[in-house]
Amino acid sequence: MTSRATSGFATRSESDTSSDNETETKRTRKRILTGDRPTGKLHLGQYVGTLQNRVRLQDDYETFLLVADYHMLTSRLTKLEEIEQNIRDDVIDNLAVGVDPEKVTYFLQSRVPEIPELHLYFSMLVSVPRAMRVPTLKDHMRDANVREPSYGMLGYPILQAADILIVKGDLVPVGKDNESHVEVAREIARRFNELFRPIFPEPQSLIPEIGLLPGIDGREKMGKSLGNAINLSDATATVEKKVMSMYTDPKRIRPTDPGTVEGNPVFTYHDTFNSDKAEVAELKERYRKGGVGDVEVKRRLFVALERFLEPIRARRAEIERKPGIVDEILEAGTARARVEAIQTLHEVREAMRLDYFGA
Ligand code: TRP
Repeated sequence: MTSRATSGFATRSESDTSSDNETETKRTRKRILTGDRPTGKLHLGQYVGTLQNRVRLQDDYETFLLVADYHMLTSRLTKLEEIEQNIRDDVIDNLAVGVDPEKVTYFLQSRVPEIPELHLYFSMLVSVPRAMRVPTLKDHMRDANVREPSYGMLGYPILQAADILIVKGDLVPVGKDNESHVEVAREIARRFNELFRPIFPEPQSLIPEIGLLPGIDGREKMGKSLGNAINLSDATATVEKKVMSMYTDPKRIRPTDPGTVEGNPVFTYHDTFNSDKAEVAELKERYRKGGVGDVEVKRRLFVALERFLEPIRARRAEIERKPGIVDEILEAGTARARVEAIQTLHEVREAMRLDYFGA
């Protein structure tokens, strides 16, 4: 905590009315803002999509992570009793993969009321047809089982823009499915800066090169609601069962048939999670020639995945021995995020002339 208190930007005193430029120069590191909706246990797709980048970049960027519980209201109004446990699972999974609470600010969206205030202002800067063109809208409608989006559901990416810009995030590590949301955030920042005052950075998304990790059923995307995920918290027996049931090259009947490696999810997983690159290269070669069966390729994937998951399990066990740690992290992080949020809104209200009684 002490190292955070001396990090400069956060400790700007209230009487400090320095210009935005000075604020910029005081910031030594670029900022990351990203987060998860608390939908439950996190899976390998989310690891590849965003968790891995969070861990990799937490030393180089000033990192803010949020649990986006407000976003759950846009599509899960009938399942809200699950949120509390899901918030906990989200934090634990992040810590288990190596997110360091000493380095990042981890906060709860619904405890930062400046976010919905900023969302309101931003909602004036986006046309309805623009919001309707966001490609994930139809996924959210399917998820909520509705034919017409609510006003709030239409605003999902605009709320996400408020999450990012409330802490002036520069970089947003997300999965490919969130690229269009960061695009909306960029448009909003640009429009705000032009219309009022140049307060916001234009945030960039950071999308992993492999794109989306396919599900174990071979569908394009691994997703909790799609029922095709391997969770980071799955036990050995579950991992084994899921891997052995994986979709593979459907044209292959016998182990002696030449098989297809490209686009085969079993090999995509090998490429992503098997640290033994020589083994992967050898398996691919044999597979192409019909020199290895699917069962062996999957067995070796299971072993590789276990090697990957073992340290994650060990860290999880350690965290679970400290009850209360999740609440401590979220409480401290939320307090710190609010300092930033209040400062940003101060600048926003001033820029928008919403300062009749002072900003
Ligand atoms: N939309 C993200 C998801 O698909 C969650 C999220 C909410 C988010 N607010 C964010 C991601 C801000 C990055 C930045 O789960």
